[in-house]
Parts: sequence; C-alpha cells; structure tokens
Amino acid sequence: METKMFTKNDIAQAAKLLAEGQLVAFPTETVYGLGADATNPQAAAAVYQAKGRPSDNPLIVHVNSANMVWQYAAPTYQNVATKLMQTFWPGPLTIILPVAQDKLSKTVTGGLQTAAFRMPDNQLTLQLITQLGKPLVGPSANTSGKPSPTLPEHVYHDLHGKIAGILADGPTRVGLESTVLDLTSSVPTILRPGALTQEQLAQVIGTVQSSHHKVQAGEIPKAPGMKYKHYAPKAQVVIVDHPNDFEAALTWVQQTTKTFAVMATDAILQKLDLSQATATFSLGDSLESASHLLFAGLRQFDLNEDIEYILAQGSDDQDLGIAYMNRLNKSAGNNHFK
Ligand code: TXA
Ligand code: MG
Repeated sequence: METKMFTKNDIAQAAKLLAEGQLVAFPTETVYGLGADATNPQAAAAVYQAKGRPSDNPLIVHVNSANMVWQYAAPTYQNVATKLMQTFWPGPLTIILPVAQDKLSKTVTGGLQTAAFRMPDNQLTLQLITQLGKPLVGPSANTSGKPSPTLPEHVYHDLHGKIAGILADGPTRVGLESTVLDLTSSVPTILRPGALTQEQLAQVIGTVQSSHHKVQAGEIPKAPGMKYKHYAPKAQVVIVDHPNDFEAALTWVQQTTKTFAVMATDAILQKLDLSQATATFSLGDSLESASHLLFAGLRQFDLNEDIEYILAQGSDDQDLGIAYMNRLNKSAGNNHFK
C-alpha cells in the first residue's frame, strides 16, 4: 500500500479514506495519532495490526466537541467532565468515562466498560473529524514500543506501506502524550502524567490523585498501556539527574570504552568536552523544549547503529517534569547515573 502525505488542502480526501475504513495518521498538539473511524470495528482492529499493539490496550476516542462524547459515554460523570472539557478542551487531557451500553465496540475499549475521550488542539484534525462526522480512534502513530511520533516523518518511518495516509502539520507542540484522567474511580485519578498537571486539574475539580507509579510484577495496571515497555531505543539510556553530574557521567562512560551519545540542554552541551561522543542532541534551553524534543532525540539516535549508551538529562519531578521523567524513565528502564 502506498502511504500518501496529505496537507491541509487534502482533508476531504483523508476523510473519504477514513469513511472507507482505511487508516490515516493525524496531527495533534501532543503527538501524531493513528486514525480510524471509531464506529467501525474492522478499521479499529486494523489499527492494532499496523502498530503491532496488544489487543487488550484500549484506544482513545478523539472528538471534535463535548457533544460528540455524550453520543458514546454514559452521563454518570457529566457534571465534572463538562467542567474539565470547558476548561481544558481542546487540549492535552484524555478523560476516562463509562461507555453507554453497546455504543463502542470491544475492539475500541479493549473489553472495558469505560472508554477514553479527548478533543485534540489541532485545527486540521478537528476539521477531519467534522468531515468524517464520527470520532477517530487514535493511539500514537508509532510501532508499538517505539517513541511516539512528533513529526510526520516519524510516522512515515514506522508505518509507511501499512496505512493509507498521513495528514501532516509539522512538529507537534507539546511532544509528550496527553494526561489521562480516570473519572470513574472513587477519587479522579491520573493514570498517565502529561503536560496538564495534577494541580491544574485539582483547581477545577478538587482532589485529584495520581497512580502512574511503576507497575509491580503481578499487579494489574488501570491504564493497560502503562505496563508495556515503551519509548525504548536500541541503546541503553542512562539518566543524569543533576547538571553537575554530567562530567562524572562522561568520565564513567568513556572508561567503559563503549560508544555513546549525549542528549542535554544547550547550556550543558556547551560546557562539556564531547570530542569522544558519537553524537549529540540538543534539548533546547528549557523543560518545555526538552519535552517537545525528547522523542525526536531518541529516534535520531536510534538511526545510528553505533551508539551503545545515551546519557540523557533528567529533570526535577515537578509539574511538566513529572511527565518528562515518566517517559524518560521508561526509555531508560529506570536506569540513573549514580
Ligand atoms: O496525546 C495522546 O493521548 C495521543 C494522541 C494521539 O492523542 N494518544 C495516545 O494514545 O497516546 P495511546 O493509545 O498511545 O495511549 C492511550 C493510553 C494508554 O495507556 C491506554 O491504556 C489508556 O490510554 N487508556 C485508553 N482507554 C482506557 C480506559 N478505558 N481505561 C484506562 N486507560 C485507558
Ligand atoms: Mg502510545
């Protein structure tokens, strides 16, 4: 199958392919999604196949409005959900709600009684959903286990030949996937941290807890996706928690005689002697830029067969740093330089 690159002038064509049950990747403010008509179980099944994704891991249903949600979700948590939607949508917030009886197929929900809903902040994708007239399922448009795509080229790299098209809209703004909030637990619970923080959510709906700790052996995680190995490049990632530790980390990695790359902010790259490094990648000058660029950096190093270690800059576990460290820890298997 030839994978077509679409731009803003091709939205009608992309919507037509989706209506036929084909797969088209779409841009959002977080990462690119792999789109299919959420009301077509065969199309949703094809999403799992294209990604190589385990079928017990449910899909996010992307909508163009709050109204579209209530065609599929039961109204049990409508008041609190509406507050969140009015404040944060379109934006990087996914809300878990109970499904109205028989309104979504098992293929979409992974057999759960709940489903994940999100209205992405991207005009092309909102138009695409409007033209299709139906919600889009959309997991991140990467091969399962690889870093999520933040550029159309990342989607093409992983999925060309397997999907009908990619609606391209340049680099995504945030770079990390949405905050997943479960409204169906006794206290609203963050299942996956994202750019929207616990404090921001609590300001609107009161107490919010988080449960995105590392899943222990034998434990059943509430967000099925959180148990899988994610974002892992071929090289071993080693997190350097404090900027002051980079020199010691460099001394250590050079003693191992293994090849290595360094991923850090400009200020750190500039002060180190990196003449022995196989490659370097700049995370820009802030936590925002580091979040925006993290997956692109991991993917760039993955194209280079020669890199055995990646020294990657950590961050404080606060605000956006919680989401950044959640993804970086997964890519590193929680491996920190000590
Ligand atoms: O930013 C994002 O959320 C991106 C863009 C494309 O919207 N999408 C994304 O989808 O990251 P995906 O499929 O890679 O991650 C969805 C997460 C998974 O961890 C999944 O297990 C969880 O949401 N999830 C989906 N439905 C759920 C449900 N009913 N209950 C609990 N967790 C659910
Ligand atoms: Mg994903």
